[in-house]
Amino acid sequence: MARDKCVLAYSGGMDSTISIVWIRENYDLDVVTLTVDIGGGPELEGVRERAASAGAIQSLVWDAKDEFASDFIVPGLKAGAMYEDTYPLSTAFGRPLMAKKLVEAARQVGAVAVAHGCTGKGNDQVRFDAGIKTLAAHGEPLRIIAPAREWEMTRDEEKEFANRAGLELREVGEDQRVYSIDRNMWGLAVEGEDLEDTWFEPPEDAYSWTQPADQTPDAPEEVEISFDQGTPVALNGEKMGLVKLIEQLNLLAGSHGVGRVDHLENRLVGIKSREVYETPAAIVLYQALKALETSTLSRDQQRIKTQLAPTYSDLVYDGRWYTGLRENLDAFIDSVMRYTTGDVRVKLYKGSSTVTGRRSPYSLYDFELATYSTEDQFDHNAAVGFIDIYSLPARTQMKRQTMNEAR
Ligand code: ARG
Repeated sequence: MARDKCVLAYSGGMDSTISIVWIRENYDLDVVTLTVDIGGGPELEGVRERAASAGAIQSLVWDAKDEFASDFIVPGLKAGAMYEDTYPLSTAFGRPLMAKKLVEAARQVGAVAVAHGCTGKGNDQVRFDAGIKTLAAHGEPLRIIAPAREWEMTRDEEKEFANRAGLELREVGEDQRVYSIDRNMWGLAVEGEDLEDTWFEPPEDAYSWTQPADQTPDAPEEVEISFDQGTPVALNGEKMGLVKLIEQLNLLAGSHGVGRVDHLENRLVGIKSREVYETPAAIVLYQALKALETSTLSRDQQRIKTQLAPTYSDLVYDGRWYTGLRENLDAFIDSVMRYTTGDVRVKLYKGSSTVTGRRSPYSLYDFELATYSTEDQFDHNAAVGFIDIYSLPARTQMKRQTMNEAR
């Protein structure tokens, strides 16, 4: 009789390769690997072979780049979701999509379990588990296996395990740092090694998408980004799909050293952790969209949107993507962004990006009201009556209360 199956989220790295063997041995399940491509590398070449060499009975490689960009990144961008005002949530957006694909794959191959490579200390286990449990709430229950959370092996024991299982390991030089890295098209997250000392400046080898400022071009470069209802649609006047746009902007902004983030962040599981990110496209797009909103949204719309952004980013960070509230917020944001169409010009130079212009057919900026020139149409005399009534409650209070106290 065939064994039951488990679908494992598979990156091709050492931990996930060991997991194939470990699941088969410890759970007596056949392992089907699922590699979901959401951009940003690592190279997917050879993943099938690696999975097979570790004993996977089948390996699926799914391209989900378009879905990732349009259904996860863009809603987050439009919501202005930036965790703790600093981290564009690259990894956090990827997890619910992967959870969805794991459940889909499990249903497709008739698996009884799914597995992921998260440890017991991070946010990602929460995002995976919560996503999987929520999406599998209908139908056959799916068991969740998290080898790295369960196996209690040290790094050296993992290596021993790999050797025993006859798995080939990447050679690592004596003094080479081995960071824990997660990447997709929206950003790259780096943890561990010397970064665990919060005072230690991230060494150059922690970065791979961005140039250090002293090696970037000496001339600034301008890039024009066009948005349609809050969604980026063109770079420098050239219409292009989201994936291409994000990839190109990562290269362009990264070459000017834009997108480095060094953050000491609050994990959901209660730990503070030092994280280094590289998110060139995300940084520039958030900045550009925000600039366009200053022209297309009313003051009240801007304020409410700004108030909601931390709520949205906490939802994403905390693994509550598949909730009614997230859908409600998206509906509201879509409505707010209805007229946020137009162009923004950003200057990239030596690690910084600066907005230098914005325009929109729906701009609320009215030259004739704003100008100090002879074309001024603003009724200066009306200001007098306005201020009289506007300051009425303050004056009344000053007379009846504060003045009495002072006496
Ligand atoms: N701290 C980030 C988050 O929770 C990124 C975690 C990425 N993992 C890694 N191995 N670097 O979203």
